[in-house]
Amino acid sequence: MHTLKRSSGTAAGIAVALFLTLVFSSGRLCTQAFAAVTEAKIGFAFSMTGGAAAYGATQKKGADLAVEEINAAAGPNGLKIVPVLEDDASVPQQGINVFNKFINADKVALIIGPTLSNTAQVTDRIAQKDGMPVLAISNTAPGITEIGDFIFRDSLTESVVIPYTIKVAKEKFGLKKVAVFYGNDDAFTMGGYVAFKKALADAGLEVVTEQTFAKGDRDFSPQLTQIKSKNPDAIIVSALVEEASGIVNQARQLGIPASVPIIGGNGFNSPALLKNAAESAEGVIMGAAWNATSTLPLNKKFVEAFTAKYGNAPDQFAAQAYAGVHIAYAAIKKAGTATDHKAIRDALAQIKDLDTVLGAFSFTPGRDAGSTPVVQVVKGGKFTILGE
Ligand code: ALA
Repeated sequence: MHTLKRSSGTAAGIAVALFLTLVFSSGRLCTQAFAAVTEAKIGFAFSMTGGAAAYGATQKKGADLAVEEINAAAGPNGLKIVPVLEDDASVPQQGINVFNKFINADKVALIIGPTLSNTAQVTDRIAQKDGMPVLAISNTAPGITEIGDFIFRDSLTESVVIPYTIKVAKEKFGLKKVAVFYGNDDAFTMGGYVAFKKALADAGLEVVTEQTFAKGDRDFSPQLTQIKSKNPDAIIVSALVEEASGIVNQARQLGIPASVPIIGGNGFNSPALLKNAAESAEGVIMGAAWNATSTLPLNKKFVEAFTAKYGNAPDQFAAQAYAGVHIAYAAIKKAGTATDHKAIRDALAQIKDLDTVLGAFSFTPGRDAGSTPVVQVVKGGKFTILGE
């Protein structure tokens, strides 16, 4: 017994001596061993100007609320978030400038954003190359997380939401033939188009015409006139909110009746659609990643806090931003570092059933959102759940 004890005592002594040698021979290790991380910079790349500014505005509100709540709850010695917000201006080149600043000047722990998939497909390559973790909170085009193992998203992809939207809408409206109208110069609108095409084929729906538009177009009447002449049961639209609002407005102005529903993708999930298309937006259908009517306690608390702070209810983009900050915070906290990007990446990958406003959140093995979609319809100027 004695020998065994002594022997283990000797082994322990050697281990302690080795540890002390390591600690005192390296100032860096000394800091890592004893100082708890109390601050983590997060870079937020949101479209505060340009075509996607309506999304960026509510993303900022959702993120601000989360940061405020997290920092208040952290207490004087807890881990706090230092937010660094930059405007990606809805264009890839500005997104590149912002990512370079976050990586090289701000030296953030992690990047949340950018708003558009069209920007992310360029910026995320820079982050991946540098080993900087990115959490997308609104990118829904295919191919974003495939850029590499440092890229994550809490936004559900078009390829998950759209087949469900088509299935629900087909059953609800007895659809047989549809028209398809899409933007052909944007990663998200093209991704949505491809997902719609496949979902329509899988559901056995006939496509009577396909029409296209480009970013910034204002007059959609030539294409809508073509669509009207084909007498479809529904119009499928893959568009960001600016063009979506114009399409919805002009379709009704051209006399396509409300009995022909307009079915959109993720880009339709904005109060800007309700404001810009007003009466014409009634009956518009779109899939979403967040259920605004969920009575889960965390969701109710979020909706109440958001409404109290800003005087209006949150939208899906705000909810995904709010959840994204919580997911990022949980990962940084678990990693115990604001500078070791590989450790933060690994902690993100390990997020499991985190209680968020999107439900119990886990990433899929491909780092996409593992949540469940809902289908919404605009009713009385509000997004409501289709069928309720
Ligand atoms: N969901 C849109 C995109 O991915 C905003 O670009």
